[in-house]
Amino acid sequence: MIIMSVESTCDETAVALVRDGREVLADQIFSQAGLHAVYGGVVPEIASRSHVEVIFQLADRAVAAAGIRKSDIDAVAVAYAPGLIGAVLVGVNFAKSAASALGVPLIPVHHIRGHIAANYLAFPELEPPFLCLAISGGNTLIADVRSYTDMHILGSTRDDAAGECFDKTARVLGLPYPGGRPVDELSRGGDDTKYRLPVAHIDGAPYDMSFSGLKTAVVNIVHNAEQRGDELDRSSLCASFARAVSESLVPRAVAAARETGRTKLVAAGGVAANSRIRADLAAAAQANGLELFVPPPKLCGDNAAMIGAQGYYEYLDGVRAGSDLNAYATMELDRRGA
Ligand code: KG4
Repeated sequence: MIIMSVESTCDETAVALVRDGREVLADQIFSQAGLHAVYGGVVPEIASRSHVEVIFQLADRAVAAAGIRKSDIDAVAVAYAPGLIGAVLVGVNFAKSAASALGVPLIPVHHIRGHIAANYLAFPELEPPFLCLAISGGNTLIADVRSYTDMHILGSTRDDAAGECFDKTARVLGLPYPGGRPVDELSRGGDDTKYRLPVAHIDGAPYDMSFSGLKTAVVNIVHNAEQRGDELDRSSLCASFARAVSESLVPRAVAAARETGRTKLVAAGGVAANSRIRADLAAAAQANGLELFVPPPKLCGDNAAMIGAQGYYEYLDGVRAGSDLNAYATMELDRRGA
């Protein structure tokens, strides 16, 4: 079964063709990062307009790259939540039109479910159940993935997402947007014990996280150094920051895997590209006898192939949408269907 899949929830426009949820025939991505860099973050209106400008071309290019005919497409899947509402609407409307024109089913896919499914593309042998740490620019959560479509959230951030925190740290240090990768690169070689940064714990909610205090602490360190004229060890600040984020995420994910009895630990989302988090996950998985799955960095960020992968399993589960499908800025990961 060939699914055409569409992703436009933030600042990447992407269209892919995926066979049977596991084989990527084509994956076209246009990153708008260059358009937003000058503003230091995503400007929703610019994002929506840019999606409109490129989405048709990307679809044509995906079909050409896959070497198929449009009539070979069996269904259209689209990320319909969560995301920037204007941006998501572009993908949803394109997908509705494409499904209608092709006369094939339309499958709504939760964006974070897509991030999790990126692992099915990277690891053909991976099947649920597993414990997943999903860490992206807009979401940070720990989920028990019981089956391809049955997921239960064990904990999530109470405020900022981990990726948002990386982006804010980059911004205050004058690093380019999106900031996760530059902070990651600068952190290498730094002393991760030099700056004491908070790792929040929430009473009665062991798997919930909070990053706003950490973000504020980094901003204060930078501003105080500027005001006093002190020299800032930027590399060590990035290393200390990455350590604090990792210490918020990794022990919780491992504890959740142990509590649920899952033997497989899976990471997903743009922040899963972080070298410190990847190294800590590897060490913790080994120490706790867990099998670890972390997608290659290319599949951590937003792409449409992951939507096609999850779309296939949603389709098998009977999930369909009609021409009244809406886009949603927020939606719980564990809600089934559209
Ligand atoms: O999953 P993603 O591409 O988009 C969302 O669905 O949100 O995640 C983007 C986030 C951004 O905040 C970006 O700075 C962060 O992932 N990111 C990283 C790294 N690469 C991307 N954060 C830490 N280390 C990285 N190497």
